[in-house]
Amino acid sequence: MIKVNLNNTKISNDDLKDVKKLITKSHEYITKENGKGSEWLGWKDWPTNFNKDEIKSIKNKINDWDSKGVDTLLVIGIGGSYLGAKAAIDFIKGTHDNSDKEVIFVGTNLSADYINSVIKKIENKNWAINIISKSGTTLEPAVSFRIFRQLLEEKHGSKANRYIAAVTSGSTGTLYNIAKKEEYDTYVIPDNIGGRYSVTTPVGLFAMQFMGINIDNVMKGSAKAQKELLVNDIDKNPAYKYAAAKHILSNGKNIELYVNYDPRMTYLSEWIKQLHGESQGKDGKGIFPASVTNSADLHSLGQFIQDGSKVLFETVIWSSKERTKLKLPKSKSNDDNLNFLAGKDLSWINEQAFKGVVKAHYKDAGVDNIILDIKDFSEETLGYLIYFFFVSVAMSCYMIDVNPFDQPGVEIYKSYMKDLLNK
Ligand code: PA5
Repeated sequence: MIKVNLNNTKISNDDLKDVKKLITKSHEYITKENGKGSEWLGWKDWPTNFNKDEIKSIKNKINDWDSKGVDTLLVIGIGGSYLGAKAAIDFIKGTHDNSDKEVIFVGTNLSADYINSVIKKIENKNWAINIISKSGTTLEPAVSFRIFRQLLEEKHGSKANRYIAAVTSGSTGTLYNIAKKEEYDTYVIPDNIGGRYSVTTPVGLFAMQFMGINIDNVMKGSAKAQKELLVNDIDKNPAYKYAAAKHILSNGKNIELYVNYDPRMTYLSEWIKQLHGESQGKDGKGIFPASVTNSADLHSLGQFIQDGSKVLFETVIWSSKERTKLKLPKSKSNDDNLNFLAGKDLSWINEQAFKGVVKAHYKDAGVDNIILDIKDFSEETLGYLIYFFFVSVAMSCYMIDVNPFDQPGVEIYKSYMKDLLNK
């Protein structure tokens, strides 16, 4: 489902051989669960041992809301409690899905203008809330939840709780306590799965199901990946091969630029940036993740990549299998001189852009390009891809002796902010 192509990098077979020992050691940390942060390896077996009853209960809840005509879901969460769902919905539905249902993400900022604009937008909508917070104490989502919960209570009175679904820890925390007291339908983020590794738990699945995404197929894709991506053989395991390649290239280049050619993957990059950045960037180490969506960014950062300082390597996520077809029409006047492309599929034209850019960046500018060739934009591929990044990120972290599952750096801003807020 994913092929790792290193033809446009300077990585040699000897380079790959050299890191095999390190891969083996890190593989053991993952599979024997004896490395740093091993208590958070719950995502590893999740695709085969997830709670099937909870999936049924998510489907029932969405069916119930459908029967009540709920058309807008406010997903309130931040970080790992937000990016996965957004990435998944865009990956499957594209960025301008024309279904009559919509997910709006809040709790990602403290901007009065943003929140007020959402309040205005949902005025005449039949909306519900999906509040997601593992800790239940993160300020940004908690602030939004208080605001929108009160609006919902004004709208539905004592029945407001029927329009709220909470995703949180299964046993403790502020949100858990509120949900219990108010009798919200509640779904669990398992204790042994950290926020950014949780997209295939109710954290991501609830919003996906709301948007009509086939979550059974997402889980099927992840289960296939679980079978294939924990094998200690970089020739057979693309996740380990990718981690090995990154590790080799990071010797001298400390920025990894994720590249895609379809806006449906802009948030996939955002999710990967969070997963990778929060996992690997610690102890003064790690590759800094950045991203571009082409062709737009070819006319922006493209200049820097081609011509600027040599600080980065690229990882292109590519698929030639778009979900729809579009041919460039012939024009009688040909006043735009584009008839030489008439009758060509746009996906073919996009592919030539991708190939041309890889050539320009690698051959002319010496910027290494790892290419992740993904099968298509299906739910199964999405599930597989999610697991692929979990494994490759965990592997990359262990290769530099970093705990992939904590985020001590994030806590520091929180404590300063709380001081300033007089808590
Ligand atoms: O990956 C992580 O653990 C973080 O990004 C969290 O998901 C984020 O900080 C939100 O935390 P919580 O779900 O506890 O509100």
